[in-house]
Amino acid sequence: MSVGLDIGSKTLKVVELEKVGSGFSLKAAGAVNFQSTQIEKLADQKAVDAFAQIIKKLFTDARISSKKVTISIPESLIFMRTVKFPLLTNEEIESAVKWEAEEYIPIPVKDAIVRHKILERQEVGNPPQVLVQVIAVPKLLIEKYMNVVNSAGLEVVAIETELLALSRTWGSPDKTVILADFGARTTNIAIVKNEQLFFSRSVPTAGEAFSRAVSLGLGVTPIQSEEYKATYGLNDTQLEGKVGRSIRPVLTVIVDEIKKSMSYFQMETHNDIPRSLILSGGTSGLPGLAAELTRLLNMEVQVGNPFSRPDLTVDAESARSLASFAPIYAVAVGLALRED
Ligand SMILES: Nc1ncnc2c1ncn2[C@@H]1O[C@H](COP(=O)(O)OP(=O)(O)OP(=O)(O)O)[C@@H](O)[C@H]1O
Ligand SMILES: [Mg+2]
Repeated sequence: MSVGLDIGSKTLKVVELEKVGSGFSLKAAGAVNFQSTQIEKLADQKAVDAFAQIIKKLFTDARISSKKVTISIPESLIFMRTVKFPLLTNEEIESAVKWEAEEYIPIPVKDAIVRHKILERQEVGNPPQVLVQVIAVPKLLIEKYMNVVNSAGLEVVAIETELLALSRTWGSPDKTVILADFGARTTNIAIVKNEQLFFSRSVPTAGEAFSRAVSLGLGVTPIQSEEYKATYGLNDTQLEGKVGRSIRPVLTVIVDEIKKSMSYFQMETHNDIPRSLILSGGTSGLPGLAAELTRLLNMEVQVGNPFSRPDLTVDAESARSLASFAPIYAVAVGLALRED
């Protein structure tokens, strides 16, 4: 059994998979909305225990059987960048990252866990170069996440970033795709080539910003704005298109970031621009979002269902119950698919 737990700013998502032959079978899944201070800001052990209780209850309600979990930490709290090296050997790159880490990361190396991965050797490029991903995570942050999850009586087997998990969910061999996970506070953008995360960007604008815009634009309460947003979204035939008119300026911020990400990727890595965009996260349920993005970006856009993959068996009843919520599980599925 493998369990993936995605601790979002607004909802917790958990997925349990069982390895069956060379594929997987879905054992359990569940999600819950919660209100709490973010993990990195929890003040004391009492606050940690309260957060842990929410996780514990979700595991009980969703009937998760294993206590071993893979968790994600948000992109916004870590540092990740692609560094270009001349054609050095792998050993030389390893040593350069080790000794020159201070040059690439904005936090003191002694306070961080630093990892690197060779993404691509471009031997015939102009100039020839090696693309290397460097990730740095503050040790204190890891300790805080471990403390919360351990306090829920669970054992952490691995920690990843949300976009590394999504790369596993949506990546496929010989294909480059762009991903956008529209959450509550954050929209994470990634470019994934051959199942590897080549580019990542975290934009602090997502569902909550849409709700605020609807609330201001229509003069309605936050609760009503959530309802209007989810019911009408970008559908202009309703309420004289007022909801969509409020949301669009906020959406433009994200669309610009997606465009910038694609041109940066093309310029820096000399790779072709991805041809399709896969959406996930709760806000990908916004009515009309995929169509609007298709129009604005002039590319194929789809809301992804992380459970519909050829190597994953889902029984009919689970498939039905998950269908409308499926995109919110994209990170948790990627975490549970991890196999080492
Ligand atoms: N049908 C819908 N239409 C529009 N928005 C929706 C819909 N369903 C849920 N949402 C929004 O999705 C958001 C929650 O999504 P998600 O669970 O992906 O967030 P999260 O992972 O907790 O947040 P983050 O990733 O930013 O930390 C909320 O802002 C909610 O209003
Ligand atoms: Mg999220």
